Amino acid sequence: MSKERILTGITTTGTPHLGNYVGAIRPAIEASKRDDVQSFYFLADFHALIKCHDPEMVHQSSREIAATWLALGLDTDKAVFYRQSDVPEIPQLCWMLDCMAAKGLMNRSHAYKAAVDANVAADKDPDLGVTMGLYGYPVLMAADILMFKANKVPVGKDQIQHVEMARDIAGRFNHHYGERFVLPEAVVDDNVAVLQGLDGRKMSKSYGNTIPLFLTEKQLKKHINKIKTNLLEPGEPKDPDTSTVFQIWQAFATPAQTADMRREFENGIAWGEAKKRLFELVNEEVFEARVRYNELLLDPDFIESELLKGAEKARRYSVPLLEKLRKAVGIRPIK
Ligand code: TRP
Repeated sequence: MSKERILTGITTTGTPHLGNYVGAIRPAIEASKRDDVQSFYFLADFHALIKCHDPEMVHQSSREIAATWLALGLDTDKAVFYRQSDVPEIPQLCWMLDCMAAKGLMNRSHAYKAAVDANVAADKDPDLGVTMGLYGYPVLMAADILMFKANKVPVGKDQIQHVEMARDIAGRFNHHYGERFVLPEAVVDDNVAVLQGLDGRKMSKSYGNTIPLFLTEKQLKKHINKIKTNLLEPGEPKDPDTSTVFQIWQAFATPAQTADMRREFENGIAWGEAKKRLFELVNEEVFEARVRYNELLLDPDFIESELLKGAEKARRYSVPLLEKLRKAVGIRPIK
């Protein structure tokens, strides 16, 4: 029986934070250990160019994200871990899909629509700053997914639409050229926490409210101390369910530790004390990986060799598939 394939991409535009760790990286690494799945995880560096035109940042982010996944123990013999741009078949497939994707479908993409809406609201040309990269973003993502015949694509809620578009495009291609692609499904795991950031909104780079995953202990403490709380004094009961401190605690704690902390809140634990314990809990979980992370950053050759190994594995799938697809669409030797 063939294994279920799960695939996800990480856009290389930032430094991994606790929200990424809890919401995506930790569950992905866990899933990759299962014997009944084949996992594909990749650095979406072509996607990064859509949002980020700073070459240093794209490069630095690729290095940090790769080092993070490796430091956290991703087994690269088991998972296929690669850089999108090392698989030249992906942009080729992207073009074939571009020629099957309806423009009207792309008009509905919310990444694009959000940019247009913001322009209209500011009384500007609707297309101001909108590149073809942003417009066609879902097609590149479809190529990433369809290339490896992924069954399941773990994503955040904001990405569900893109996976559905990939299904749509795959269906159209299959209908026209014969069954070539597996229709992928987005999976949003409700048990996986969406972490709140320092200001209580969703932890996100775009809000500038993140706690980076691998800070020094001193900086980690400092960030945790910056989490917004109310003005309740020590001894006054506090509501765990509206507290970011508690919410992050829960994402790192065992159920028993969570129950204990809930009681502490009801008993009026001081914010300072709750934050101190949160620091200790998070630090304990990331401590070893942080040491490895810092070692890895000093060994870029190793990171590179891991990614190239992954690309070689990925291309064992992409090269033969592209070969078939070329024939399917009529691109072959004249003979
Ligand atoms: N667009 C995704 C994001 O911003 C990243 C991504 C690129 C991706 N290609 C993918 C995710 C394919 C899942 C599958 O989060």
